[in-house]
Amino acid sequence: MELNWNVLNKLNEDFGDSFYLLDSNKFVKNYDEFLGEFQKIYPNTVIAYSYKTNYLPHLCSIVNKKGGFAEVVSKMEYDLAIKIGVIPSNIIVNGPLKTKEHLEYFLLKGSIVNVDSYRELDLIREIANSNPGKILSVGIRCNFEMGSTVSRFGFDVRDAEFIEKFKELKKIDNLYIKGIHCHFPDRNLDSYSKRVDNLINILDLLFKENIPEFVDIGGGYFGKVNDFLAKQFNCNVPSYSDYASIIASRFKEYFKNIPENRKPKLILEPGTALVADTMKFIAKIVEIKNIRGKKIAMTTGSKFNMGLFGLSINLPINVYSEFKNGKFINNVDISGYTCIEADYLFKNYCGILNIGDYIAFDNVGSYSFVFKPPFICPNVPIIDYNGDKFKIVKHKETFEDIFKTYMFE
Ligand SMILES: Cc1ncc(COP(=O)(O)O)c(C=O)c1O
Repeated sequence: MELNWNVLNKLNEDFGDSFYLLDSNKFVKNYDEFLGEFQKIYPNTVIAYSYKTNYLPHLCSIVNKKGGFAEVVSKMEYDLAIKIGVIPSNIIVNGPLKTKEHLEYFLLKGSIVNVDSYRELDLIREIANSNPGKILSVGIRCNFEMGSTVSRFGFDVRDAEFIEKFKELKKIDNLYIKGIHCHFPDRNLDSYSKRVDNLINILDLLFKENIPEFVDIGGGYFGKVNDFLAKQFNCNVPSYSDYASIIASRFKEYFKNIPENRKPKLILEPGTALVADTMKFIAKIVEIKNIRGKKIAMTTGSKFNMGLFGLSINLPINVYSEFKNGKFINNVDISGYTCIEADYLFKNYCGILNIGDYIAFDNVGSYSFVFKPPFICPNVPIIDYNGDKFKIVKHKETFEDIFKTYMFE
């Protein structure tokens, strides 16, 4: 569907003056392409889609139908995966805070829990002892030197206690340590090269006698970005195939002597790489002010709609105007509707901009509406547009949605 002012104005009339547009066909394409690049090299690769990045049920369901796994970090996300119909053995549970009650629930259902701490190990031992007839599946989240900020997640694999605890765990009859996991936030290729080196060292150390069922290298890959966006990152933006050739090739080589049908699963946990470029945020220009020489255009949106990326950089935008010869304007800051001084969606825009125009902010699919607080206004709807059809996949939030958990006197 070609976007233009008339299309956006019709959506405004039907659904309100700001909204997200989703392109779920693009999501399917990204999923197939990303997985395909890895499977070309290492066929036993699986995607465990990171729910926290964008847990739109419509997208989680696409992943499930394609045979992908769910990567979840809370009971809320776990319940969502179950509601969508994901089978428990296709759910990977990560995250630093899991209560004993929840751990027991995930493990007895048959999901894979990646253990994050010694506290969790102790709880899992207790759960295994009190459920002798059940086989429990776990992975170990590994934390190692990456040459950047020290991550607070997982086990420091250099810690002397770590190996001892691992050996103790292996002795528990009904506990099956299926694999190892890591995740770091850096998106550059060097980060993945270091992850692979370290995971291979850990495999040498922990899995000498038996073959693991999986190696999970986490998420954090860049999605597809245009030049305008790429220039704002302090590294080159790798392509899907760049990531695959660093990661999949190394594991292909490492596991070369293992027969194809016994090779460990290579698990990837992308969120941003699949979803970031599948959503746009649309807002309308309602006013253009000039305050002591500074031009400010206020919109019906807010930076709180735009996600984590939008807080630090200018996302790519397109302006849709009703008029052929709109007014050109220099260095205008495009602001949000909230009362926060710093609520700007784009700084120093130069181009055509008029009251009544719509602005489409690109690459807002990751950490956007899942991060949006009900600050001042409820959240806006999400509309899937494919071909020439529009379909609502999340309703506009209402007063009732926000206030149903509060007590009124
Ligand atoms: C364990 C884990 N896996 C996957 C992801 C997804 O990251 P991204 O959306 O950057 O791919 C995250 C994000 O924080 C994470 O913590």
